[in-house]
Amino acid sequence: MEKSWRCTVCGYIHTGENPPEECPICGVDSSFFELVTENEANKPKEVKPVTKPVTEQPDMATAIRQALYRISYGLYIITAQADGRDNGQCANTCFQITSDPARIAIGINKTNFTHELIQKSGKFGVSVLSQTGHDYARGFGYRSGRDVNKFESVAVHRGQSGVLLLDDSLVTMEATVMGQLDAGTHTLFLAEVTAGEILQEGDPMTYAYFRASK
Ligand SMILES: Cc1cc2nc3c(=O)[nH]c(=O)nc-3n(C[C@H](O)[C@H](O)[C@H](O)COP(=O)(O)O)c2cc1C
Repeated sequence: MEKSWRCTVCGYIHTGENPPEECPICGVDSSFFELVTENEANKPKEVKPVTKPVTEQPDMATAIRQALYRISYGLYIITAQADGRDNGQCANTCFQITSDPARIAIGINKTNFTHELIQKSGKFGVSVLSQTGHDYARGFGYRSGRDVNKFESVAVHRGQSGVLLLDDSLVTMEATVMGQLDAGTHTLFLAEVTAGEILQEGDPMTYAYFRASK
């Protein structure tokens, strides 16, 4: 029977006789992999606060790629509405910038339909996914609202600014864009949070948890 190896950094599971030379998700070398039993491999990764000094540095491009993989993120559904059209997309780049006043930033690819709607309306919604939100991340993250109605079979309600928000999320926020920065492929939108609601208790989905358990 083939063995399963878990990356102790990001939770990626590799199947094979030996661990991979490099984790395809977070880029660490084979020494960061541990052998797991078949049952354990199907379980979400347990949080183990283990660190280990790295003695040899990879080349700079690899070091930068691996460093970027270690930035922690949550997962969100960013929604927007303009010209009578609603849409939403999955995003990991959503951050609190200041708490008082409440201001957040999001990084959105310029080619996304959501980007077009945010630029037209100057508003967006944020639905914070829980650790059971895998289907929403996939449904809103791997296809464009230009081709499909992503809200079909998804329970939503309208916020006070008019954007759709997911019923099945931990909390939601609505925000008005204050400024934007051209970041090349993406636009960084800085926004004032104008509304918030608490819908569920639970742990938020992190990008690392999504990758490890998807
Ligand atoms: C886990 C995950 C995280 C993502 N994070 C972002 C992000 O932060 N910014 C972004 O522009 N796209 C991100 N995407 C990609 C968009 O969700 C994707 O391109 C989407 O299809 C755009 O949809 P739209 O054209 O309907 O707006 C992410 C996708 C996934 C699955």
